[in-house]
Amino acid sequence: MAYNQQFKILEVPPIVQELVAGGLQEPPGQYVVPEQDRPAATVSEMPEPIPIVDLSRMSSNSAEEFTKLQSALENWDLFLAVGHGMEPSFLAEAMKVAREFFELPLEEKMKYSNIVNGEKLSIDGYGNDMVVVENQVLDWNDRFNLLVEPESERNYSLFPTHPPSFRDFLWEYTTRCKAVANLVLQNLAKLLNLHEEHFLNMLGERSITQAVFNYYPRCPKPDHVFGQKPHTDGSMITVNFIDANVSGLQLQKYGIWYNVPIIPNALVVNIGDVMEILSNGFFKSPVHRVVTNVEKERLSLVMFYTLDPETEIEPVSELVDEKRPTQYMKMKNKDYIAKFYKTYATGKLAIDNMKI
Ligand code: OGA
Ligand code: NI
Repeated sequence: MAYNQQFKILEVPPIVQELVAGGLQEPPGQYVVPEQDRPAATVSEMPEPIPIVDLSRMSSNSAEEFTKLQSALENWDLFLAVGHGMEPSFLAEAMKVAREFFELPLEEKMKYSNIVNGEKLSIDGYGNDMVVVENQVLDWNDRFNLLVEPESERNYSLFPTHPPSFRDFLWEYTTRCKAVANLVLQNLAKLLNLHEEHFLNMLGERSITQAVFNYYPRCPKPDHVFGQKPHTDGSMITVNFIDANVSGLQLQKYGIWYNVPIIPNALVVNIGDVMEILSNGFFKSPVHRVVTNVEKERLSLVMFYTLDPETEIEPVSELVDEKRPTQYMKMKNKDYIAKFYKTYATGKLAIDNMKI
């Protein structure tokens, strides 16, 4: 199928959680970031905080919330969302099922491995970075990717039966988070002076939602590794629910790195590459990364929303004119997905290659 592509790899990457359980003192060489690229121990204070947008007010057309959304995207390409209707107890379940999954014995988790015949990696499944180039620096992070929409494409053999609530939780989260994504997409269309339903109409029945559970183990040398290397997301938009106890997500703006603050039970919503292209560069897909720490492991549940893999991605025609010609190359979404994964592994940005 067009989304869950397979990639030839040079080697099978280790599971970071297993390395850490072995009690190592130093991250193995494969994870060590060259000195000039390492994360600094301290990052800059934000000149002004990232706006917190109340979605319940935005859904009743509050001009004030709409302005907050606008300013958040202008300044940060990302915002924090509250008023999404998901109760704290429901969100706590996300962290609980994630933790219970990652705490399973390795053999159990390997039933859901993304490794195919020891030589290829598929997008979906449990694992780590795919190794596609020599001397690749690996992320200090294990992840579990699952396509959740379209429902007809779910690979049920990949959805764990342990913990027992995993599936039911994820189905319900998919539904509830979709409502959040739809509301955001309607308001992004409004910000571009497009018809409110423009992006929702583009989504259609075959559009993809990918759920990713991220597990970032403790690291004895956090300043030598990345939990996730600097990247943009290959999605239209991304909705991220993060462990309330452990920070680590950082955002780059004009070359400076900032911590994304933790607001308990808020979702972090950011623009992805596909939206940057559709909007002809009006919205930007922010460069972000994850740093680890010595004391605590960290979890996140990230939902990536994108178009049907067969759709051509190109700037919306209403946003292209003589004054602002198209800024991006045209490409089928499935080809962009492939390009995205390969480029991510090398530490470069796929979106940079799309700019005309
Ligand atoms: C990602 C990502 C951030 C986080 O999965 O693309 O940026 O907080 N995750 O885990
Ligand atoms: Ni990301």
